[in-house]
Amino acid sequence: MTRKSVKDYIRTIVDFPHEGIMFRDVTTLFADPRGFRMTIDQMLHPFAGEEIDKVVGLEARGFIIGGAIAHQLTLGFVPIRKKGKLPGATLSQAYQLEYGEAVMEIHDDAIQPGERVLVVDDLLATGGTAAAGIRLIERLGGEIVGCSFIIDLPELGGRKVLEDMGMDVHVLCEFDGA
Ligand code: PRP
Ligand code: MG
Repeated sequence: MTRKSVKDYIRTIVDFPHEGIMFRDVTTLFADPRGFRMTIDQMLHPFAGEEIDKVVGLEARGFIIGGAIAHQLTLGFVPIRKKGKLPGATLSQAYQLEYGEAVMEIHDDAIQPGERVLVVDDLLATGGTAAAGIRLIERLGGEIVGCSFIIDLPELGGRKVLEDMGMDVHVLCEFDGA
């Protein structure tokens, strides 16, 4: 019997949120005790033994992963949120969506200069969300140890965007047909 891999637990919902989109649904992965633990263990694995000060998670599913990783490493967790959700003073960074623009924010005291940060999210598509998050961390003087994702959609080129920014990118699986 072959055991299921992380990818095997991810459900695809056709035509969500629009016609023609294949939505890669990680709720089925998170809901499974073995699937969730494997995800956290595998996302961490390449960074084990590295000096890390904080885990940053990107809204929204990056919070679920980032909380678990921070707990596992006994580190603090910092959220990067969509505009208007964080209560304190923030830095903002705009990024491109398919149609229009969006803004991500971080509390301006969430990362101290020189702190070493691991960035996590569920999915890498165009890389716009993660690139905005990386810029926010760098604007606060943080150093990024690496970026870890469950899923990469290679056709959308996000991995190259992040690698061209000098990032060490780790993904657990890829899906074709974005
Ligand atoms: C999805 C996904 C990533 C982002 C990736 O989040 O969870 O955060 O898109 O896309 P990109 O690489 O093209 O930027 P979404 O913006 O749908 O919001 P949510 O996580 O809050 O649901
Ligand atoms: Mg997201």
